[in-house]
Amino acid sequence: MNHETIEHDVIIIGAGGAGLRAAIEASGKGASVGVVCKSLLGKAHTAMAEGGMAAALTTADPRDNWEMHFRDTIRGGKMLNNWRMVKIFTQEAPDRVNELEEWGALFDRTDDGRILQRNFGGHQYARLAHVGDRTGLEMLRTLQNHGIHQGIEVYMECTVVDLLMDGGKAAGAFAYWRDSGTFVQFRAKAVVLATGGLGKCYTITSNSWECTGDGQALAYRAGAELIDMEFVQFHPTGMVWPPSVRGLLVTEGVRGEGGVLRDKDGKRFMFDYIPEMFAGEYAETEEEAKRWRPGVPEGPDARRPPDLLTRDVVARAIRAEVRAGRGSPHGGAYLDIASQASEAQIKKKLPGMYHQFMQLASLDITKEYMEVGPTSHYVMGGVRVDPETCSTSVPGLFAAGEVAGGLHGANRLGGNSLTDLMVFGRRAGAGAAEYAGALSAMPGVNPDQVRDIERLALAPFEESGTENPYEVMQDLQKMMEHDSGIVRAKEELADGLGKLRTLKERSVKVRVEGNRQYNPGWHYALDLHNLIMVSEAITLSALHRDESRGGHTREDFPESSPELEKVNTVVRNRDGEMAWEHVTREPLPGDLQELLSHPHLEEPN
Ligand code: FUM
Repeated sequence: MNHETIEHDVIIIGAGGAGLRAAIEASGKGASVGVVCKSLLGKAHTAMAEGGMAAALTTADPRDNWEMHFRDTIRGGKMLNNWRMVKIFTQEAPDRVNELEEWGALFDRTDDGRILQRNFGGHQYARLAHVGDRTGLEMLRTLQNHGIHQGIEVYMECTVVDLLMDGGKAAGAFAYWRDSGTFVQFRAKAVVLATGGLGKCYTITSNSWECTGDGQALAYRAGAELIDMEFVQFHPTGMVWPPSVRGLLVTEGVRGEGGVLRDKDGKRFMFDYIPEMFAGEYAETEEEAKRWRPGVPEGPDARRPPDLLTRDVVARAIRAEVRAGRGSPHGGAYLDIASQASEAQIKKKLPGMYHQFMQLASLDITKEYMEVGPTSHYVMGGVRVDPETCSTSVPGLFAAGEVAGGLHGANRLGGNSLTDLMVFGRRAGAGAAEYAGALSAMPGVNPDQVRDIERLALAPFEESGTENPYEVMQDLQKMMEHDSGIVRAKEELADGLGKLRTLKERSVKVRVEGNRQYNPGWHYALDLHNLIMVSEAITLSALHRDESRGGHTREDFPESSPELEKVNTVVRNRDGEMAWEHVTREPLPGDLQELLSHPHLEEPN
């Protein structure tokens, strides 16, 4: 029980964009801040965000404004978004981009020196501020420099096992150092979760090893609510070949720069998949699509190509092509930038993609087609938060970024994630600092809770264990891919819940070899608890949404239901069992509702 103890006013778990932005805000408000991260500083999954951050800056298209960004985000989210979050988000987005620039981020420029913006799926106008195809990396670099100089402390290679609680209030976090395997207690007046996503519960994912649903599971165990967990985004373009890199992201920026999708015979198939909701807004023929040029304001005769429809639509279209026998040799579709942009343009705007394919697939994207297919990329659901402060239903616990739910509804638009990190990271940092500032003393720590966490964390070293953590993990990923993946059905989801019960039983019987220093088997064994918990939340929520909407497609209910458009799904821990409920969504006020049918202005003003 004599663990190393570290104290801060505010502890932030996760050092990606949201965590660092929260840290900057909280420390700027005078709080002592510690950032705890599983990986090394600068290596968070934010680094893998490529295409850009969305904001109505109007530097590429003067017709843009926050209202149009609001409209696109709600329509892209298939109406399930929390409109208060979307309003805050779209109104504050330009300030967050400009602030990053003031802090040293080197965005790509227009010829006359303004921030350049690129097209992305579902965005009416070119709206993504970017740094080639390495935007997330530049964001991290900028935030790190700023935060470190402002005095935040960072604790690296340190994994949080559970939150410390004082009664029903957050009191810190219990963690282990990955190198020594020893435990450490972080005591704090407020805790911000900024742990990102959960893609590792699927076999094919663009997510890196850190994305194991830690924050969602920590919050759930602490008593917080999770919202809309059934909505998982499958990005349409992950690599499909070679197998060792299957799922790795191929940025939507390729299509934003003019890239098009083709079937095995070279036919552009997306014209066949324009949904009713977007009818009339996208080019319907190849001839018409040719009149559109990336980044150039489109006139009435040059509608966006359907390759830039929202991700849910494009991912399902690729899956349908493969199923119809029209896919590429390794089970995807072709992505062609070679015939649409010059070699120099490709190397300038998509240097990361050029090197990624050259080095990993020996393929020159300036001359050849890429092979791509859907990959689990993002979870729209997450911890339910207050839009203003990012507080959760647990006092002292805040959440921001991918770990939080509500902003993106049933489907996120590309580029809205990096901006989400900045807008709500800042708000979570401010909310946590204010909460901590109002407490006169550090919350207490319950020794019984600490003993329990420690016992569970060390259980995999007990000799009685019979299960191999890698095998349990693989079985979980296979089950999620098959039963709770891109297309779902009642029977499979129910079957999946049964398998999850078995996996849970197996996960408490895992046995690991060796000692506690840098022991990947042990780390896997602990990750399993979180991954199984979030998988259950996804599967349970999906089973009870009898419709198809955004990132949730049900084979047995292919249409969207007007009734279910009015509700969000909430799950919570009730006496050790996961309970679900549909809660009525707050309807949009009249003036915002009107925006949804607002026709975009045809001419630049
Ligand atoms: O395709 C991409 O570059 C991904 C961006 C995002 O998910 O926002």
